[in-house]
Amino acid sequence: MTGDRVIIRTRDLTKDLPLGKVVVHALRGVTMDINAGEMVGIVGPSGSGKSTLLGLIGGLDKPTRGTVEIDGIDITRMNEDQLTEIRNEKIGFIFQFFNLIPTLTAQENVALPIQFARKTKFNPDKRARELLALLGMDDRLHHRPSELSGGQQQRVAIARALANNPPLLLADEPTGNLDSESGAVVMEALQTIRSESGTTIVIVTHDPQIAQHTDRIITLVDGHLSDDAAVNSVTESVADVLK
Ligand SMILES: Nc1ncnc2c1ncn2[C@@H]1O[C@H](COP(=O)(O)OP(=O)(O)OP(=O)(O)O)[C@@H](O)[C@H]1O
Ligand SMILES: [Mg+2]
Repeated sequence: MTGDRVIIRTRDLTKDLPLGKVVVHALRGVTMDINAGEMVGIVGPSGSGKSTLLGLIGGLDKPTRGTVEIDGIDITRMNEDQLTEIRNEKIGFIFQFFNLIPTLTAQENVALPIQFARKTKFNPDKRARELLALLGMDDRLHHRPSELSGGQQQRVAIARALANNPPLLLADEPTGNLDSESGAVVMEALQTIRSESGTTIVIVTHDPQIAQHTDRIITLVDGHLSDDAAVNSVTESVADVLK
């Protein structure tokens, strides 16, 4: 299923963050390629640079040095307007903070990005209902965020990220608030989306069970890429990092 087309290419990706009088080396030169259609897990200890890497790939932040190409386009040279367009058209984000709109129902939250899209083949309400059903939320369509549990809100946020069928989905701990059963529902939904649409999915996770659902695991340690392995050949050292 995975083709040879590189959709994410990073070269020497580096991020220094000033912190008072010192500089934190959040990312120390990460070079990697991710192919279209791959599902990649990013793991590593807390503070190893995972969220920083995801933010740079998604154009939410600029690197100190190095490049990120999305589908052959260097996004590190883009201005804010160009980045906004790339993010809207190509990238779905799932973060730990859901930022759902409190006055809208689950279905309305998911339908919103479709209503904002410049052109779309989707009927917003129908698409929202289908995605929420895929995530096991069909009985909560008309609940507002305050009427949903944390895990249910997270699933609404995931459905919203998928609303416009982005070719690239970036997820930071998408199952962080979920019990293992709901986590499994989310992973199955992501697998379905990928096989239906060929979506490339990059997931930051601490959860070894989630990582096992991916094709490939990239391990960061202290801002460096320390391992990059297909999941069926995950070594004991990677298994240790996941614990
Ligand atoms: N705004 C900032 N200013 C200074 N240092 C920062 C800032 N944001 C992150 N850092 C530092 O950069 C390093 C990498 O942070 P990052 O959030 O990428 O880690 P992470 O791997 O996502 O960790 P976690 O698993 O805890 O989410 C950490 O040492 C962190 O303290
Ligand atoms: Mg993080």
